[in-house]
Amino acid sequence: MSGEVCVQALQRLRQTGSFTRLVENKYKGGPSKRIVVDFSSPNIAKQFHIGNLRSTLIGRYVDQVNRVMGNQVTSVNYLGDWGTQFAMIAAFWPQMKPSDQYWNSLSEVEKIKQLTDCYVVANKNMKLDEEFRAKVYETFVSMEKAVTEGNYENDENMKLWSQIRQISKEHLTGFYNTFDVKFDEWLCESSQVRKAHQYAQELIDKGFTEDLDGRTIIRLKDGETEKKKLDGVNYAILRKSDMSSLYLTREIAAILHRDATFQADRYLYVVDRAQRPHFNALKVVLEKLGRSDLAEKIEHVQYGRVRGLSTRNGRTEAVGEIVERGRELALQFMKSSKTFCMDPSVEEDIADVLSISTIVFNELKRARNSEYEFSFQNAFALNQNNALALQMKHSRLSSIEDKNQHLLPLVDSCTKFPVDDTNDDVKRLMRLLKDLEESVELSAQKLEACQLTVQLIHVAAAAGSVQKQLRVKDQRDEIAVPRLLLFSAVRNVLAEGLKLLGMTPARSM
Ligand code: ARG
Repeated sequence: MSGEVCVQALQRLRQTGSFTRLVENKYKGGPSKRIVVDFSSPNIAKQFHIGNLRSTLIGRYVDQVNRVMGNQVTSVNYLGDWGTQFAMIAAFWPQMKPSDQYWNSLSEVEKIKQLTDCYVVANKNMKLDEEFRAKVYETFVSMEKAVTEGNYENDENMKLWSQIRQISKEHLTGFYNTFDVKFDEWLCESSQVRKAHQYAQELIDKGFTEDLDGRTIIRLKDGETEKKKLDGVNYAILRKSDMSSLYLTREIAAILHRDATFQADRYLYVVDRAQRPHFNALKVVLEKLGRSDLAEKIEHVQYGRVRGLSTRNGRTEAVGEIVERGRELALQFMKSSKTFCMDPSVEEDIADVLSISTIVFNELKRARNSEYEFSFQNAFALNQNNALALQMKHSRLSSIEDKNQHLLPLVDSCTKFPVDDTNDDVKRLMRLLKDLEESVELSAQKLEACQLTVQLIHVAAAAGSVQKQLRVKDQRDEIAVPRLLLFSAVRNVLAEGLKLLGMTPARSM
């Protein structure tokens, strides 16, 4: 690799947006696709749990990397705001409802906690108490009618439902702000109920369904679904015996609505792999409806479960607590580390950045489908491949830039890299930088963030060894300037990579 080529590449890599632009340029004029990515999509009235977090972070990356590749992406948060669980809460709430005064004094999270508790008790009762069960079904049927007809101002159950929805949305917005996640669209299950019934009826009328104990089912072939099997027959339920809709029925309506709205080439769903049968059933139904074309565009971007992430009060779900714990560990780490010397006024902000990026990186550093055991200890251990490794390197390179501000104008016009400096470590670093572009492409193809995270870790490590050999301080300009160019390019590449993955690069710490 000649010195000159090196320098041009480094100059490009140093520019803001360069990293993404490299890929963009390559694909300019190429086949841009319309892509709709459904991610996060939590069930409301439940606390946002680690599975939702995983979908949120993987989904956001899938969204961003596709934009970088020049595709037209629409990100969708499909709220799980419908289902029997709301009828359970509504039916049991009168027994658990606190006084208005107490209720109004609660924060959103506390309110959700109360409602979740109500759901937990109601759920237990469903199994034990036949009368209560009947009441829940009846409640749900009346709610489906209300939401279908659309005028429910005076309906007590629907009032509670609207309230739950409102509180949950506010709580979620706070969470998305913490992780800086944005959606183009917030869609929801509840708006699909009417259409869901219409499509179920169409399938019945066309003779594609069967009756199973009053439920309307659709037969599937072996392998199309895993869970529901009766007398050797695979099936999915489209309508319950009380005529109410299901997750699948609403999904059918939702995808047809999505397709009419966005006319995309690909519909991606970043959802737990446990839902494979659900998406298989969806495709089968679409084929029956004469929409094989649409079935083919659906891709279930699945991921494995996270184990071992329990929080203090024994719940595994509260992401807020995890962020808080990460913050404490980040502060501890910063206090115990000798390399940190920072202004106490920014300490808290940096702890936030480190906590969030540790969580994000952990979700993105391994293959989507792998199940893993979360460990805060590893996440904050210095010898591990983690967010700290990247952030520390980024910060270290930033301070080299900061300390050599006076040379930065000269870096812009630097055209030569000293031959004496082009040692094996530098060459290796250059190769890694070059491969980065391919890593992004591969990662977009496979929808695997780890292709990028792993490569960034290699770059950071390689830059570490180069940085120990090539000092900028007290060198003649002909030597100092090209070295600074190299470090500045690496710093920018790390920053761009961190941002693409959804992290805020930490400057000098
Ligand atoms: N709300 C569902 C859940 O929490 C996930 C929804 C995923 N998106 C979809 N279109 N099905 O399990």
